[in-house]
Amino acid sequence: MGGHRRAILITGASAGIGAALARECAGRGYDLILTARREGPLQALAQELARQHGVTADIVVADLAEPGAPVALVEAIAVRGLRADGLINNAGFSRTTGFLATDPADHASMIRVMLTAPVELSRLLLPGMIERGWGRVLNVASLAGQMPATGGDTLYGPIKSFLIKASQGLWLETQGTGVHVTALCPGYTYTEFHDVNGSREQVSSAYPKWMWMDADRVARIGWEAVEANRPRVTPGVANNVLAALGGLLPDALALKMVGGHAKRLDRL
Ligand SMILES: NC(=O)c1ccc[n+]([C@@H]2O[C@H](COP(=O)([O-])OP(=O)(O)OC[C@H]3O[C@@H](n4cnc5c(N)ncnc54)[C@H](OP(=O)(O)O)[C@@H]3O)[C@@H](O)[C@H]2O)c1
Repeated sequence: MGGHRRAILITGASAGIGAALARECAGRGYDLILTARREGPLQALAQELARQHGVTADIVVADLAEPGAPVALVEAIAVRGLRADGLINNAGFSRTTGFLATDPADHASMIRVMLTAPVELSRLLLPGMIERGWGRVLNVASLAGQMPATGGDTLYGPIKSFLIKASQGLWLETQGTGVHVTALCPGYTYTEFHDVNGSREQVSSAYPKWMWMDADRVARIGWEAVEANRPRVTPGVANNVLAALGGLLPDALALKMVGGHAKRLDRL
C-alpha cells in the first residue's frame, strides 16, 4: 500500500448500520470517508473513530436525493486529495403509507438514494479500484429484497431486489480483479430506520425480540462477507429461514404471508 492506508466511503454513516460499518472498518484499520445529510452526528463519529482506532475519518455532507449528488460527492472527495478504495452504499429510508398516499417526491427520493446513487457511485469508483487491483463494494440491501413485495412500503422491496441483482452482476464482472462486491440483506435491525418512517410502535409490538438484530452484528457479518468475496449475505438464522421460504413458496402463498405482515403493521 506504500504507506497509504485504504479508505472506505460510507453513505448514510450518520446513524444505524452505516455508523456501525464505520466502526467495524475503523476497527480493522481502514480510514473512512463518511457522508450523510446531518453534519453533527458525522463529526461526532469521525472524532470517536480517530480517538479509538487512530484512523482518519473525513466528512462530506451530501443529500443523495439530489440529482447529481453522487458526481458532486466523488468530485468533493478528489478535491480534498482523498481516495475511496472501498464503497459502502448504505443510505436509505422507507415510506409505509402506501403507494398512492406517498408523496411522488418521496418516491423519487427513495429511488435516487437507494438505487440511482449506488449505481452512479459504483460506476464512478469501480474503474479506479480495478486499476489499483483492490476494492470493496458493499451494498446494503434488505431481507425485503428477497421476499415478495409487501403492501404499504410498495417500492422498498423492489428497490432492494434491484440492488441484490445488480450486486450479483457486478460480482461476476469483477472476478479476478481484486475487487469484491457483496449485497448485505439484513432483517429487522435496531437503528433509526423505523423512527424515521414512523413505524417503531407497530413493528415493536408486531415482531418479537428474536427477530431483531443489533446494527454492530449486522455490520460485522456484512464486512466479513465482502472480505470473503461472497456475492450476497443475509445475517441471522431467522432471516435466512425467511429468505429461503420467500424463494420457495408459490406466489399466492407468499403474497398471503407478506399480506399478513402488512396487515399486522396496519399498512393494508
Ligand atoms: N433497520 C432495518 O431494520 C433495516 C433492515 C434491512 C435493511 N436496512 C437498510 O439499511 C440501510 C441503513 O438503514 P438504517 O437501518 O441504518 O437506518 P437509519 O438509522 O435511519 O440510517 C439511515 C442513514 O441513511 C442516511 N440517509 C437517509 N436519507 C439520505 C439522503 N437523502 N441523503 C444522504 N443520506 C441519507 C441517513 O443520514 P441523514 O439522515 O443524516 O442524511 C442515515 O445515516 C438502509 O439502506 C436500509 O434500507 C435496514
